[in-house]
Amino acid sequence: MTVHFIGAGPGAADLITVRGRDRVAACPVCLYAGSLVAPEILSWCPEGARIVDTAPLDLDAIMAEIADAHARGQDVARLHSGDLSIWSALAEQTRRLDALGIPYTVTPGVPSFAAAAAVLRRELTVPGLAQSLVLTRTSGRASPMPERETLAAFAATGATLALHLSIHVIDAVAAELAPFYGPDCPAAVVFRATWPDERVLTGPLASLPERVKAEKIERTALILVGPALDPADFRESALYAPDYDRRFRPQGAVNAPGDAA
Ligand SMILES: C[S@@+](CC[C@H](N)C(=O)[O-])C[C@H]1O[C@@H](n2cnc3c(N)ncnc32)[C@H](O)[C@@H]1O
Repeated sequence: MTVHFIGAGPGAADLITVRGRDRVAACPVCLYAGSLVAPEILSWCPEGARIVDTAPLDLDAIMAEIADAHARGQDVARLHSGDLSIWSALAEQTRRLDALGIPYTVTPGVPSFAAAAAVLRRELTVPGLAQSLVLTRTSGRASPMPERETLAAFAATGATLALHLSIHVIDAVAAELAPFYGPDCPAAVVFRATWPDERVLTGPLASLPERVKAEKIERTALILVGPALDPADFRESALYAPDYDRRFRPQGAVNAPGDAA
């Protein structure tokens, strides 16, 4: 018996990986993280599968479901939104499984920041504008921020910021970031990226709070800030420059069509 943790992706069912889909289809037990997992994904569970929404359960109750499946010798598909490597509660569950000696695997998923960038049709690292992406959040009831992980400290780098779990404090976020990025810095809010009710707001950082309130966006949204979000003027990367010497295209070699892949 194995617990398969699976990143379900940002919303649209067809953004789960093929491996994730196959694991869901093979497991007689499916535990899923509430409304952030598309119902279509649950329809892939085998007939008669035990399908449990874990949103109303505490960790003990979730572990009891897994222990019961373990006793029956049944594999479990454990679905979380986006990818498991960020804000998924993976660590606390695997620590319990390690203690119980229950084996598990982890299948990655498309994280919401990547889905939001795709919706915006933007690269978040643009030469000369930003070469780093900070995935962060503001303090919440469940998870206070470590002392040194302040928004100001990240903002001081000028990197592209992807702020999760923070749309309800957009006023404070915009006010704290403005001294570093400037009120006119390109910014975006992407609500429920890839879901049918997806909404996108783009514009200067200072304009976002009012618009977010007008649109009544209160949850499941990403705030993206940084010059890479509207890269009017930037130099091209050297990688594809004609005179750039690299292993697969040594200088002097005749370029064949398709070399630039
Ligand atoms: C508990 S975290 C889960 C993050 C997830 N593990 C990931 O890989 O993106 C939930 C937060 O992620 C962001 N989020 C998740 N899905 C989203 C989506 N489809 N569109 C925009 N933001 C999303 C929101 O900031 C939301 O408050």
